[in-house]
Amino acid sequence: MNLYEGIQIRRSIRKYDKKSIKPEAIERLLRAAMQAPSAANQRPWEFIVVEKRETLEKLAKTHMYAAPTKEAAVSIIVLGREESMLFPQYWQQDLAAATENILLEAVELGLGAVWMGIAPEQDRMAYITELFHLPQGVKPFAMLAIGYSSDNKFVDRFDRSRVHYEKY
Ligand SMILES: Cc1cc2nc3c(=O)[nH]c(=O)nc-3n(C[C@H](O)[C@H](O)[C@H](O)COP(=O)(O)O)c2cc1C
Repeated sequence: MNLYEGIQIRRSIRKYDKKSIKPEAIERLLRAAMQAPSAANQRPWEFIVVEKRETLEKLAKTHMYAAPTKEAAVSIIVLGREESMLFPQYWQQDLAAATENILLEAVELGLGAVWMGIAPEQDRMAYITELFHLPQGVKPFAMLAIGYSSDNKFVDRFDRSRVHYEKY
């Protein structure tokens, strides 16, 4: 599978098999995340990898759309570290790029994954901050639920009417 094909077939996967994910595969997801572009190369990210079922169940209660973590093999929480932010105004864009890289690497590895929003919702951020006792200056951005799955359906979303050439 090449990058184009991977991007085309990526979908949010919210149902997973019981199969566990090897540590090498998890490391590949994290390596993909850290290859993301960031403003002035500030790389303001940190990650928490969660495999304990008890914690995954707690993550599922972060908000009403967070249920996928309950059955996932792994969840990765994407965090922003204020200390690393040279251009703090871009922190969410940087972390979004890292999060998308995880989703794409998951496709490459034959895994299913879904991005679940945390920031900028204050209640969600507070829940994760409390759950992991995050120190001051470390802000939860998003979490991913990841697992093996056969649940995927390609949808072609290309819409020519959204593209403007040279002028609007
Ligand atoms: C910022 C952001 C927040 C999202 N939050 C959730 C979420 O909380 N729960 C969930 O199941 N999916 C969440 N998604 C996934 C979207 O619902 C999904 O990407 C969208 O419906 C398009 O479907 P696709 O990913 O299969 O292409 C989120 C996606 C983004 C980019």
